[in-house]
Amino acid sequence: MINDIQQQITTLTERLHHLNYQYYQRDISEIPDQEFDQLLAELQRLEKEYPQFAHPNSPTQRVGGTITKQFPTALHKYPMLSLGNTYSEEDLREFDERVRRGLEGAEFAYVCELKFDGVAMSLTYENGQLTQGVTRGDGTRGDVVTNNVRTIKNLPLHLREAGQQPAEMEIRGEIFMPLPVFAELNAEREVNGEALLANPRNAASGALKLQDSALVAARKLRFYAYSFLMPGRSIFPTHSASLEAMHAWGLPVSDTWRLCGNINEVLNFVHEWDKKRFTLPVATDGIVIKVNDFRQQELLGYTSKSPRWAIAYKYPAEAGRTRLREIQYQVGRTGAVTPVALLDPVPLAGTVVKRASVHNANQIAALDLRLNDMVFVEKGGEIIPKITGVDLAARLPESQPIVYPTTCPACSTPLIRPEGEAHFRCPNDRGCPPQLKAKLEHYVSRKALDIDGLGAETVGRFFDLGLVTDAASLYDLPGKAAELAQLERLGEKSVQRLVAGLETSKQVPFDRVLFGLGIRYVGETVAEKLAAHYRTVEAMEQATATELAAVPEVGGVIAESVAAWFQEAANRNLVERLRAAGVQLALTGEVPQNVSNRLENLTFVLSGVFEQHSRDELQALIQAHGGKVTGSISKKLSYLVAGDKMGPAKREKATELKVPIISETDLLAMLPTTAAEADNDLNTLDIAPDGVQNSGITTDSSISDTFPAENTGAAQQGSLF
Ligand code: IVH
Repeated sequence: MINDIQQQITTLTERLHHLNYQYYQRDISEIPDQEFDQLLAELQRLEKEYPQFAHPNSPTQRVGGTITKQFPTALHKYPMLSLGNTYSEEDLREFDERVRRGLEGAEFAYVCELKFDGVAMSLTYENGQLTQGVTRGDGTRGDVVTNNVRTIKNLPLHLREAGQQPAEMEIRGEIFMPLPVFAELNAEREVNGEALLANPRNAASGALKLQDSALVAARKLRFYAYSFLMPGRSIFPTHSASLEAMHAWGLPVSDTWRLCGNINEVLNFVHEWDKKRFTLPVATDGIVIKVNDFRQQELLGYTSKSPRWAIAYKYPAEAGRTRLREIQYQVGRTGAVTPVALLDPVPLAGTVVKRASVHNANQIAALDLRLNDMVFVEKGGEIIPKITGVDLAARLPESQPIVYPTTCPACSTPLIRPEGEAHFRCPNDRGCPPQLKAKLEHYVSRKALDIDGLGAETVGRFFDLGLVTDAASLYDLPGKAAELAQLERLGEKSVQRLVAGLETSKQVPFDRVLFGLGIRYVGETVAEKLAAHYRTVEAMEQATATELAAVPEVGGVIAESVAAWFQEAANRNLVERLRAAGVQLALTGEVPQNVSNRLENLTFVLSGVFEQHSRDELQALIQAHGGKVTGSISKKLSYLVAGDKMGPAKREKATELKVPIISETDLLAMLPTTAAEADNDLNTLDIAPDGVQNSGITTDSSISDTFPAENTGAAQQGSLF
């Protein structure tokens, strides 16, 4: 029986590894996504029950879930050097001369590769298994981010056996955020009123530093391998042979590399990719040129900083020069005013640029930007081009200083600039048309209510026509069906679809409705966590900012924002009208039954990093056994559960208030160990002498919670990018 289970885990693990390989390396979907998810869920279930049989590199590791408070560091076996940079054809010819001299006239070849703009990563594989992932750090020592690296779905956790494979080796490559993922992430951040990430490289490096690997998994990072290292002499004669071997082992090697016989072929490669690189789904900033033969590499050697056998050619940051015609001020959903420069069209990095961002008022002043100026526009790693400077020599006498508006360009309300924020804001969130319109667009959007037949454009049109004013008013649209059907480009069929879409949207779960309300800083994940914690909008309405801040993933700023939102009568009124319309304002489904009532009437604070369970899991456990988790230490608190690296302030406060401090193990010891014991607990309470029947079902929504949903999100098979 036990052997069977071990076998079952191994078979499932291998099958999932195979499916991942087919999907991410060969673009082959052998089974539907749903089936894949089912297999993965099955493996997760088995591993949970029989952790002793789980493979360390199980495909379930990709989902993440480990929390690392501080990354340990590790010494690099082989220092991680950087490459010398060149910017011109002339520089490249000089490099070629140096190589030629170094090799004393021997024949040689180059390999040209694209230079991916991400984060360098060193991976150790032992007997085909990924055992460690370390960042570059200072080149000598880097951060060990293995668990985060394991979430990168195109990166094999174990290698395929093909040809020769050393028992121990190091694979180097670049971790990056694919451009479409970056664009989506920034669009989401914009919707949530968060600061935008400057470029995909920063986004990738930020993601890799996250302490919760489940969050890293959500960032959809990808990897390309470009170097192979092993102790002693390489088993491969050339770099190109090692690239082919890495590919055969299932490592992702971009197929853009080329063997070049001489510097002219290298230059052709450089020219060829000058524009073509913009068609790739990954940011690139140049070409890496490497001498192909490993012995020749050895002969050429290294300077203190970089190899003499390789060089990077950096494409000039794509820059253009054009005239600034106008500055428009856009008002976003949260009232932030963003200046946008309207330019004479200029070709740049594969597209024609007509608009550029200027970020904020400070930047306009810093650049001394004036209307009609000739400006320099750059599109580096950034997706949105930006104005980087003014050609002062070409300044016309008719250039005009830019006067930043003091009132909202849409509703004339005086703008405010909250302390510490770069943007001016229009505070008229209930009367400013672009804000109201953007709120509606957000409410109907795919990740919120996803109303069939009602896209951003249509809802915007309805708003302009005065047919809708806010989310709740959308549900009055069916009563205006005849009027709508008269509108151009709409017709009866579309109206029917829209009416049906509105009806269906009443089944959209509460967490997405909450996200759709557009409360500042409440993105999808936060909405999910809040909904799972409070279960009903009433419970959330009553929560104080301090209580809200105790919910996992909900920090102080978010908590303040949520509490402030619910304090506004107009918002509560909106919620009531949504309720009247039949929208879901509570999580449906069963309120999770308590596993026992052992912890009834006890309140806990969880602090620090725990060994056996994540903080979320501990919270769910406490709640499942009838206890309550809060964020602040008070006299009424029953226990402070101290994890690793708990701050001294918490300990001091608990000691001062005489709150017992216990460990994770102490907490677990308080719980019933068997199901029978737990059942017994509940039964005892069912016939409690005070006559109060207690079925163990928590009805007070503020202390009930679901178990954290099995997070199989990252297991969804999507395309490589
Ligand atoms: S080879 C001795 N190949 O560019 C260094 N590097 O300074 C050998 N990079 O941070 C690096 N694409 O992470 C190599 N195809 C490629 C690359 C590449 C991007 C990065 C690398 C490093 C920087 C070089």
